[in-house]
Amino acid sequence: RQVPPPVNEPVRTYAPDSPERAALKKRLDEMADERADIPLVVGGEEIRTGDLAQAVMPHDHRHVLADYHRARAEDVERAIRAARDARREWGNWSFEDRAAVFLRAAELLSTTWRQTLNAATMLGQSKTAHQAEIDAACELIDFLRFNVHFAQELLAEQPKSDHTMWNQLDYRPLEGFVYAITPFNFTAIAGNLPTSPALMGNTVIWKPAATAMLSAHYVMKLLTEAGLPPGVINFLPGDPVTISNALLSHEDLAGVHFTGSTAVFNSMWETIGRNMGRYRGYPRIVGETGGKDFILAHPSADPAALSVGIVRGGFEYQGQKCSAASRVYVPKSLWPEVKERCVEMMKAIKVGDVRDFRNFMGAVIDRKAFDKISGYLADARDNATIVHGGTADDKTGYFVHPTLVESRHPEYRLLCEEIFGPVVTVSVYDDAKWEQTLSLVDRTSPYALTGAVFARDRAVVTQAMFVLRNAAGNFYVNDKPTGAVVGQQPFGGARARRGRTTRRARSSISCDG
Ligand code: SER
Repeated sequence: RQVPPPVNEPVRTYAPDSPERAALKKRLDEMADERADIPLVVGGEEIRTGDLAQAVMPHDHRHVLADYHRARAEDVERAIRAARDARREWGNWSFEDRAAVFLRAAELLSTTWRQTLNAATMLGQSKTAHQAEIDAACELIDFLRFNVHFAQELLAEQPKSDHTMWNQLDYRPLEGFVYAITPFNFTAIAGNLPTSPALMGNTVIWKPAATAMLSAHYVMKLLTEAGLPPGVINFLPGDPVTISNALLSHEDLAGVHFTGSTAVFNSMWETIGRNMGRYRGYPRIVGETGGKDFILAHPSADPAALSVGIVRGGFEYQGQKCSAASRVYVPKSLWPEVKERCVEMMKAIKVGDVRDFRNFMGAVIDRKAFDKISGYLADARDNATIVHGGTADDKTGYFVHPTLVESRHPEYRLLCEEIFGPVVTVSVYDDAKWEQTLSLVDRTSPYALTGAVFARDRAVVTQAMFVLRNAAGNFYVNDKPTGAVVGQQPFGGARARRGRTTRRARSSISCDG
């Protein structure tokens, strides 16, 4: 009864003059003209509340892509009821019947739906065709297929029985709803967070990021077309504070599946802690938050490979992956060559509207991100050296040019704080101070999400893996720290940034997954 282990979905190239590029361009044109009207979906019913907000293109911020309806307090209540009503039947479906829905969604996405999800991710989140393809198509297809495979492995495990005792292990859905809160930066994560608990028989209330509404809307439509029964996943766009306050304090809260900012995740834990007496059980809380990911180069590193790692790890998708390289430690002996190589590549990077396939970078996600990153650029102008870039332009879109900064202070702000933009800060160290630099990197890795070491000396690689084993959940050797592939590199951080949440953090879900 088992389906065989899946193969990762092949990445399409969208080469010039290829039929796949023509099809994608056609879908981009249609979608840009459409001005979609995005409803809530609760208990299988579309709800138009009339409380509207707009989704715009980050690279052309006057262009409204969609109007979306925001949930009111009564819609949140309705979603809780819908999730409760759907639970008994969905939980009683066999695993195979549930899995069939998500395998069908993967199949549709791999064929007829591919261009729709890619186009929505390009227009709404300013991803290039390649970045959209590896996310909204390949990674989401992989999540849908591998989740079934992983679940089958779990379900196949049974405790030993003998002639006197028959033991049975059973996975039951949680008694309540799972609340899924998804980020803007990966359509695949937006698709994964509500579907993986649903696969195991849970019912879900899904709050998508305001800045990725178009792709989330199409994910919901795709799941419906694949046969997802009403009420299993309830789609609830709207104000994060209103929705979260109601859901997190509800007695039926059984689980949280979150990707987004550290501050928001911390505040969710606090809210759940304050409400602990109310719940039927202990809510399962799963989250993935920020990153301040490093590249550490040893004097034995290959400068060419290192420079490619810095540029791709730092600037693909405008540095808005939680895994992006944002601080680099380079020995003095290598820095002149690495600097020259990086600057040469950065000069060739084109930034602009992602519908022009020559552009390597689009815009950052919104005004708030643009202003925050611009603030860091101003700081770098005053307190560090801008090696290349350092400019930003928001006339048409929220464009920030790829920026390389050098600082002489190893604990300079830009080497410690999460920027979530195309800004890479370099700290140059004395070749003789390798050991001290290893300790520094460990000490300055509060999120411990990803990291990379570049070295040709094998003993050094082993040493770095040992010393930095808690400084990165995903640790790469001679490779950029982004781009974990489902089924090949499980993904997640190893530490929590310390500190309390602020009032500001409570009132915004900035979703930096
Ligand atoms: N999986 C992504 C990466 O590895 C981050 O979410 O870049």
